[in-house]
Amino acid sequence: MTRRVLVLPGDHIGPEVVREARRVLEVVAAGFGLALELDEGLIGGAALEASGEPLPAETLASARHADAILLGAVGGPEWDQVERDLRPERGLLKIRSELGLFGNLRPAILYPQLAAASSLRPEVVAGLDILIVRELTGGIYFGEPRGIRTLENGEREGYNTYVYKESEIERIGRLAFESAAKRDGRLCSVDKSNVLEVTVLWREVMDRLAADYPDVELSHMYVDNAAMQLVRAPKQFDVVVTGNMFGDILSDAAAMLTGSIGMLPSASLDVASRGMYEPCHGSAPDISGQGLANPLATILSVAMMLRYSLDAPAAAAAVEAAVSRVLDDGLRTADICTSADQQVSTSAMGDAVVAALEAQMLEESA
Ligand code: IPM
Ligand code: MG
Repeated sequence: MTRRVLVLPGDHIGPEVVREARRVLEVVAAGFGLALELDEGLIGGAALEASGEPLPAETLASARHADAILLGAVGGPEWDQVERDLRPERGLLKIRSELGLFGNLRPAILYPQLAAASSLRPEVVAGLDILIVRELTGGIYFGEPRGIRTLENGEREGYNTYVYKESEIERIGRLAFESAAKRDGRLCSVDKSNVLEVTVLWREVMDRLAADYPDVELSHMYVDNAAMQLVRAPKQFDVVVTGNMFGDILSDAAAMLTGSIGMLPSASLDVASRGMYEPCHGSAPDISGQGLANPLATILSVAMMLRYSLDAPAAAAAVEAAVSRVLDDGLRTADICTSADQQVSTSAMGDAVVAALEAQMLEESA
């Protein structure tokens, strides 16, 4: 069966990291006999320039048609003045929402080789393996009404609405409980139920679901405390489940524990496990075009795609092993480079992963 993968490079470092990840996908697919049909499309600022919209109808149509999507990153200062509804980020939010990609999995794993690159002491982060499950199509990101209005006295007021339906909480809750059941069996639900009613309901639903998952131990934490605990004693967490905005913030913090946000992949899944795969980092306009970007988060996103949407767990493991091998060899992009390492460019890192993968597949077939 041929699987369709849509590749959406996006803006700035997006195309740079996607180029490397796409090569890795092609090489691993060839090695494992996976029939893939790769198609490329426009999103974000690149799409805005070409068609006047951050998510052209054509891109959305191809996305609906695809089994999986590989996305780089969107946005940049050149579009700061663009009308809010046309901003590159809106393209990303719209594709998540239109495809119903409610379940965002953001694993933060510390590769032992990178312990020195973490901003925390090695003993605090050694062996770190956290999964953040972020709700991605609801909450304050999408709540209505929203906008900036002018009050009677002429002052302007910005407003957003933080809403979650019970069904939305239950859906992300089940994904999180199921994920925890496959791991260490501990789930921490993060909310702000001491202040926000919407998260009082969130907590109530999580408590109710717990009865269906007797093997999972559920705990609750306020988001401010969770932010503190993440940098104080991150290894206490196994799976964290939280809403869209808290998940956005906490996953960036978790990323830094692993040495660099350039290492953090993600999967965004719909109810049928069709998914979009993207690095957690943004388009990093400050380093674009210089070969400084770390392609590993996108390459590791390819591994997640193989595992969750393409039913190819062995191929996924091979990609992860190849990444581990190049880190063993001391190759580092700028973001994870300490003095003892060999700093390499984005494409050299891609070359190294491809070479490691090919060597590994050769060994296995021998
Ligand atoms: C992320 C990003 C996006 C988000 C932005 C680019 C809209 O920060 O994927 O974490 O806030 O979801
Ligand atoms: Mg973010």
